[in-house]
Amino acid sequence: MGSYTIAVLAGDGIGPEVTAEAVRVLRAVARRFGHKLTLREALVGQAAIVAEGAAISDATMELCQRSDAILFGAVGGAGVGDPNSKVQPEFALFRLRKELALFANLRPVHPLPALAAASALKREVLRGVDLLVVRELTGGLYYGRPSEIRDSPDGASAVDTMVYTEAEIERIVRYAFELARGRRKRVTSVDKANVLSCSRLWRRVADRVAGDYPDVAMNHLLVDACSMALIRNPRDFDVIVTENMFGDILTDEASMLAGSLGMLPSASLGTRQTAHGQFGLYEPIHGTAPDITGQGKANPLASILSAAMLLRHSLGLAREADLVERAVRETVAAGYRTADISRKGEQPTSTRAMGDQVVSRVAA
Ligand code: IPM
Ligand code: MG
Repeated sequence: MGSYTIAVLAGDGIGPEVTAEAVRVLRAVARRFGHKLTLREALVGQAAIVAEGAAISDATMELCQRSDAILFGAVGGAGVGDPNSKVQPEFALFRLRKELALFANLRPVHPLPALAAASALKREVLRGVDLLVVRELTGGLYYGRPSEIRDSPDGASAVDTMVYTEAEIERIVRYAFELARGRRKRVTSVDKANVLSCSRLWRRVADRVAGDYPDVAMNHLLVDACSMALIRNPRDFDVIVTENMFGDILTDEASMLAGSLGMLPSASLGTRQTAHGQFGLYEPIHGTAPDITGQGKANPLASILSAAMLLRHSLGLAREADLVERAVRETVAAGYRTADISRKGEQPTSTRAMGDQVVSRVAA
């Protein structure tokens, strides 16, 4: 029996719908095991811009700082604006990631056999796939300055800046090697070293770090080749470590191995420890999906699986996390499917009904 505080930032679009189901699952876990969970909700994204004048307020940042973990939904949807502006919904995520030093974004891809038919790929390609993308989350193009559009009488130009320090590269690559030690001991470092200086430095640092892990095999792969290999031989991968934007793109691609963007959870971690584990932010890798918002169509499993990662990494509750993951597997094996993973002609399960199925299996 323990006592834990979680900040719940549901955000925009389908964020609130899927987060509500993850929260119900967390409450069911707490009831079953006798834990005390204090959930503190706050606004982020468009909702916070309207009500509080910024995508995330200082008060909400403090609330997050004081919590053991953050459960995050999704932000954005109102069009493409300036990501550096406080009144752009995505700014909330960038501020949280940077100020809380959550530099390691873990995105596990472990397709459920019961969902093989939901994938665009052949069943035999998917068999045995179990990979983990470790995405660098607080550097690179997302944070480099300058980043702007420059208007001039001769026409506009635009600039973005990719910067990585040795220290930033080293800490994320080390993180990946440490995780690989608990898995199949293989790291693929992904870059674009034939073009980018950041990638050439990345490769140099990765080679040096690899020297400290003789028990772990490492190979380098260019990002374009990696995007091809992920579809062709996904089973070959164990841990993939890569910079911020490559990791963003490769994980949307990798979600197709799991059948849907609605299936992939993530954990964003740093070095800060709490009384129970590692401080972190947990979010599905999908976005706000404005096209299906408010219709009960969203798949809550990515959010529920993110809550399972929260239990494991930030609250130190591995048994509870296993139970939630098992409940998700059983729900899918029993044939429940939201629209994104359902077969043609099948009546899809609603967001709430999907949550009900997981909750009842956790509570049983
Ligand atoms: C993600 C998302 C975000 C990102 C967006 C919403 C800014 O795509 O977490 O993968 O690019 O990091
Ligand atoms: Mg993304």
